[in-house]
Amino acid sequence: MVAVARGYHRGMFSYRHAFHAGNHADVLKHAILVATLRYMAQKETGFTVVDTHAGAGWYRLDGDQARTSGEAESGIFSVLGGPHLPKGQTGMGSLVDDYLAVLREFNPPAKGSSTHGPQALRNYPGSPLITERLLRLQDRAHVFEVHPTDQRLLRGLVAQRDTRRLMTLRVADGFSGVRALLPPPTRRGLVVCDPSYEIKSDYGKVVDMLTDALIRFATGSVLIWHPIVARPEAHDLPRKLKNAASRAGKPWLYTSLRVQSGQSNARGVPVGLSGSGVFMVNPPFVLAPILKESLPHLVKAMGKDEHAGFVLEQGK
Ligand SMILES: C[S@@+](CC[C@H](N)C(=O)[O-])C[C@H]1O[C@@H](n2cnc3c(N)ncnc32)[C@H](O)[C@@H]1O
Repeated sequence: MVAVARGYHRGMFSYRHAFHAGNHADVLKHAILVATLRYMAQKETGFTVVDTHAGAGWYRLDGDQARTSGEAESGIFSVLGGPHLPKGQTGMGSLVDDYLAVLREFNPPAKGSSTHGPQALRNYPGSPLITERLLRLQDRAHVFEVHPTDQRLLRGLVAQRDTRRLMTLRVADGFSGVRALLPPPTRRGLVVCDPSYEIKSDYGKVVDMLTDALIRFATGSVLIWHPIVARPEAHDLPRKLKNAASRAGKPWLYTSLRVQSGQSNARGVPVGLSGSGVFMVNPPFVLAPILKESLPHLVKAMGKDEHAGFVLEQGK
């Protein structure tokens, strides 16, 4: 049985990742997650992943929620040119190919279909399942989720996996819960922080979490996702994260992928997500070159207007 730690006072949450699974933000974040975990698995010593905002773990791209939003169509389906996974390499670089290899594992070919043709892409793994897929027996993961429905779905999912003993689901606030898990026993690890930012205070909490994590676990890697939306907190976040990493004297990498200009409705209220960014502290050294190779392809595949583009920066 999967271990479940409780302790969160439930609030009202409207965000459900099922509506956004496979969108351009997931493509960027999950491709980076795959590259980071594959890099970490090159050393024999076990590592620990702490996923502070896990979501439901698994999504149907042909289900009602994904189809209502249509976000996968302008995300992963645009990268693939349709809802199918090619067998071989894409020519978009190893960042994309390695990520697609993980998606392929969750989408076995239907019985009787050719083993040479493309595989239909219906199942989309979220960050906990991607992590689980890349864990070895010496590795561990702790995943936090507070939404009553999503934590129930995630618990059921993890409990069915062969690797269930490696992953602990914690029904608790990930921002504060991560503290007690750092540093991990083997002093190797990755914190993945992917809030929904539906509450304004999430922006400040992300910076506080990073600052605290770098005190407790200076050599650990931290991956933070953020939305590009027209609000001051979102605009200031990358600068604040870079400052936090620099104050700790740690190397960082920042990348963002914009698919379109920020759009507003008739009342000037921003609608849709025009792009997103990933900030990493102590990134794998392989990440910058493979991002440089793949980002132009991702922009070309998912970009919607002349404002589409990417940023790739590093510092210390
Ligand atoms: C963007 S989604 C996560 C998606 C997931 N990381 C992935 O890549 O597949 C954010 C999730 O955080 C959950 N959440 C919101 N506040 C939280 C908190 N304080 N601690 C843990 N989870 C939280 C939401 O219910 C939601 O499922």
